[in-house]
Amino acid sequence: MQLKSVLFFLLTASVVNGAAFGQTPIVIKFSHVVANDTPKGKAAERFKVLAEKATKGRIKVEVYPNSILYKDKEELEALQLGAVQMLAPSLAKFGPLGVKEFEVFDLPYIFPSKEVLYAVTEGQIGKDLMKKLESKGITGLGFWDNGFKVMSSNKLMHLPADMKGQKLRIQSSKVLDAQMRALGASPQVLAFSEVYQALQMGVVDGTENPPSNLYTQKMYEVQKHVTLTNHGYLGYAVIVNKKFWDGLPADIRDQLDEAMKSATKYANAIAQQENDTALEAVKKSGKTTVYVLTDKEKAEWRKALLPVQKEMEGRIGKDLIANVNKEAQKLGYK
Ligand code: LMR
Repeated sequence: MQLKSVLFFLLTASVVNGAAFGQTPIVIKFSHVVANDTPKGKAAERFKVLAEKATKGRIKVEVYPNSILYKDKEELEALQLGAVQMLAPSLAKFGPLGVKEFEVFDLPYIFPSKEVLYAVTEGQIGKDLMKKLESKGITGLGFWDNGFKVMSSNKLMHLPADMKGQKLRIQSSKVLDAQMRALGASPQVLAFSEVYQALQMGVVDGTENPPSNLYTQKMYEVQKHVTLTNHGYLGYAVIVNKKFWDGLPADIRDQLDEAMKSATKYANAIAQQENDTALEAVKKSGKTTVYVLTDKEKAEWRKALLPVQKEMEGRIGKDLIANVNKEAQKLGYK
């Protein structure tokens, strides 16, 4: 081959490869444990589209849903090791990392409304919590909402006393452990991916989750009863490996930040609707009863669970709990 044609060949080859020299996309592996068809699953997909568009393909986001890569605890380890770059674990799963303050979100009845929740996640408290992750090699990018939890079980649950002696699956949060014990139940930590089978096999009697998870994991098929307790909250922190994030070119990081802001808005805008739709689908299935508490029963649940806020002060921090309650007061609650 003549020199000219060699040069031509090299030039066309690099163009055909598209990703000409130095343009191979940077891959973000985004692992999570829920179905695609949930607020978190949909928001992760939305982030992928926005991030790839904003960076004109310099970033490629690979979303791995449904624990196909890692289970709860493993995914946090994988993030710290750099095997994946992005996660959105529930706020109840940060305790084992040593950031116990995140368990404030698990306290029963801590958020009288979503308005208060957003005041916390989007305000100074949220910022301070995210800062605590830095020393763990993690950068927090945003809080994604899911919703308030319902109880499900094979045993009937109208009053807190009905929970006595039940074996209930929880996430790895000491607050959730205390919450179930306050009901006289026996809590058992299990990874999210193991819950369906544990319920089916009767390893545990029941569990708690927002309707979107109850529905998309088909837990309602192996639970006789659901009670709309709305006693606690479930949301997420979207996090990245800090070293990876800091090592990105600044312009890309800015574009990803913008993409994350939009994905966060989207996640929070769809969370309630997704859960309402999921609950309707659970009801329609006829596979489980869905019980609405009377006001009197609601008061009983509050009475049984509110002391957990005080009990957990030592673990979470009295000031942090007080500051969350202040946000509620500012908005006219309590
Ligand atoms: C659970 O483990 O119950 C949830 O945190 C799963 C999730 O990510 O919504």
